[in-house]
Amino acid sequence: MNPDHPVPLLDLTRYDEELKRAIACGVEGVFSSGRFILGAVNTQFEKAFADRIGVRHALGVSSGTDALLVALMALGVGPGDEVITSPFSFFASAGVVSRLGGRPVFVDIEPDTFNVNADRLSAAITPRTKVIMPVHLYGQCADMDTIQEISGEIPIVEDACQAVGATQQRRTAGAMGKMGAFSFYPTKNLGGAGDAGAVTTDDDDLAALVSNLRLHGEAERYHHLRVGGNFRMDSVQAAVLLAKLPYLDAWTSRRIAIADRYGELLWDAEMSGRIALPTVAAGRRHVFHQYVVRVSDRDRVRQKLAEAGISTAVFYPVPFHLQECFADLGYREGDFPEAERAAKEVLALPMFPQLTDDEVGRVAEAVLAALS
Ligand SMILES: Cc1ncc(COP(=O)(O)O)c(C=O)c1O
Repeated sequence: MNPDHPVPLLDLTRYDEELKRAIACGVEGVFSSGRFILGAVNTQFEKAFADRIGVRHALGVSSGTDALLVALMALGVGPGDEVITSPFSFFASAGVVSRLGGRPVFVDIEPDTFNVNADRLSAAITPRTKVIMPVHLYGQCADMDTIQEISGEIPIVEDACQAVGATQQRRTAGAMGKMGAFSFYPTKNLGGAGDAGAVTTDDDDLAALVSNLRLHGEAERYHHLRVGGNFRMDSVQAAVLLAKLPYLDAWTSRRIAIADRYGELLWDAEMSGRIALPTVAAGRRHVFHQYVVRVSDRDRVRQKLAEAGISTAVFYPVPFHLQECFADLGYREGDFPEAERAAKEVLALPMFPQLTDDEVGRVAEAVLAALS
């Protein structure tokens, strides 16, 4: 392995020239319009994104975190309310609940998909459960069929921040629950040139509420119906995202092809129990925001890969119930053994659509060498 030719986890500089021109043209249009926030291009993007997801409404907001936050605000989450979610995700999935005075309630994950174990969900439901918020981690939907069956009247907010384009039985992430939240952070499968996000819903009233909440609850200039926030999406972000959206399906197909190739190259190692490759549950389309393997001696393997010039990452090393800021929730080590084991074993390998076949081969070769 040649560390002089490192393979990055992700390289955001490998831009197609045609796309670069489309983005430049879109951004130029924003400057010519003089509308930098919630301009016409935002409406255009919202319409295109809603169509892509298959919902009546998509509302552009300032980040994926704010998409989750404003969705929970629209559903009235407040002090004392419980929101059931996964203990194994990016911090925002639980942080937004606490910010509203609510209590995040965790349910352990399935070891193969890393998503919340839907069969354990009903035991966590109480009269205070206000929302169920599954996370579609790494680009694969949580078991929405079972979650919807169990949830009854309790609204579901899908944290689809990592799962744009993922499907379950032909239903799209962000279109299955009452509301969906997306992140367009630059590293996401559909990434902006800064922070941005979107809320999706089929519900006209909730869409109107989100639209109002993202403008400080303002009804007409300086007259406020409710306390909201500044959750608006910049027009430059909308222009970039609108230019990129037509590429999303091809990029996703390339991600899936890379995952298939990793699968072929690492198959023997999986058969001999040295590594566990990502599992795609029946009927689901995994969009491989991340390609995450499990290895029992993860830190040693990671170090070996780094020496070989292969960048990797650990998403996420500390489950929520063991985070210092959630100590007052009263959870302890051992409460969610699958999340705790995942936190020790997961390793994300390089994954982005512009990764070359040669690089995929070099990563696999280095992984095999590190495992031996
Ligand atoms: C699962 C999940 N939820 C929420 C977020 C928050 O999105 P953002 O970083 O755009 O605020 C992210 C982003 O990393 C995420 O991966």
